[in-house]
Amino acid sequence: MRHLMSPLDFSVEELDQLLDLAEDIEKNPKKYAHACDGKKLATCFYEPSTRTRLSFEAAMLNLGGSVLGFASADSSSAAKGESISDTIRVISCYADICAIRHPKEGAALVASSKSGIPVINAGDGGHQHPTQTLTDLMTIRSLNGRLGNITIGLCGDLKFGRTVHSLINALIRYENVKFVLISPEELKIPDYIRDDVLRANGIEFKEVERLEDAMHELDILYMTRVQRERFFNEEDYIRLKDYYILNGEKMKLAKENMLVLHPLPRVNEISVEVDDDPRAAYFKQAQYGVYVRMALILTLLDITV
Ligand code: NCD
Repeated sequence: MRHLMSPLDFSVEELDQLLDLAEDIEKNPKKYAHACDGKKLATCFYEPSTRTRLSFEAAMLNLGGSVLGFASADSSSAAKGESISDTIRVISCYADICAIRHPKEGAALVASSKSGIPVINAGDGGHQHPTQTLTDLMTIRSLNGRLGNITIGLCGDLKFGRTVHSLINALIRYENVKFVLISPEELKIPDYIRDDVLRANGIEFKEVERLEDAMHELDILYMTRVQRERFFNEEDYIRLKDYYILNGEKMKLAKENMLVLHPLPRVNEISVEVDDDPRAAYFKQAQYGVYVRMALILTLLDITV
């Protein structure tokens, strides 16, 4: 039985296969409409979510399966003090596969060790978010044509932004990927990514504070929201929340074919005027999220069509 905790749980070859499958699903959705008939997906979300939970549910419904689950810790037995280990043992009796989002780092891993069904980490605190990374990889591969030979700027909350941590882990395995890490001093990338992932693998990267200084060289700009829920005090959040605002003026500094990605939800960091720019790819990205999750469910359930 296989789980997905981190994007590194798949080899580059397996990731390629998964993205090929997602592309085939995008082109031939009818072919997959009954692939999961009779199967159930549980979504156990202890933290708020719109895209991740609903795209998982849409993915399973598109495959002919059914879904069950809860959307907040308050509405589950966690509110009564049940451990995640006990919860997953019980859910293993009700469903065939489970996606878990939890505010604590490592929660999905703990669950997977007690689970009788494949567990997917749908975000564990400020740590990892591998299915967002699959979504990001599919978006880049489909719209940019390749995953290697790119310069990617990651901008905003690089400290708490789990999507950024997972994406860096995944992208360093492709050839000639350069990173420009754009953040205020207080929201810089954690040492365990800078030292143990980037430096340890000899990856080219630089850290800058001004978005304007980086725009001209980027093939991809990955914007992120300042992660309010992970701040220790509200004043720091208020001071930092509007540090970056991507607007039409700044887009003029970018390459003609640069892509703007954002895992969403957006707050103020991308002005709505950018939405009409052909380089804005974030809503398309949300659509790709359904195809990669369909491909992931089929892969973990070992179903071939
Ligand atoms: C991200 C997350 O939950 O980490 N959202 C998502 O899943 N698309 C990004 C965020 O919340 O800022």
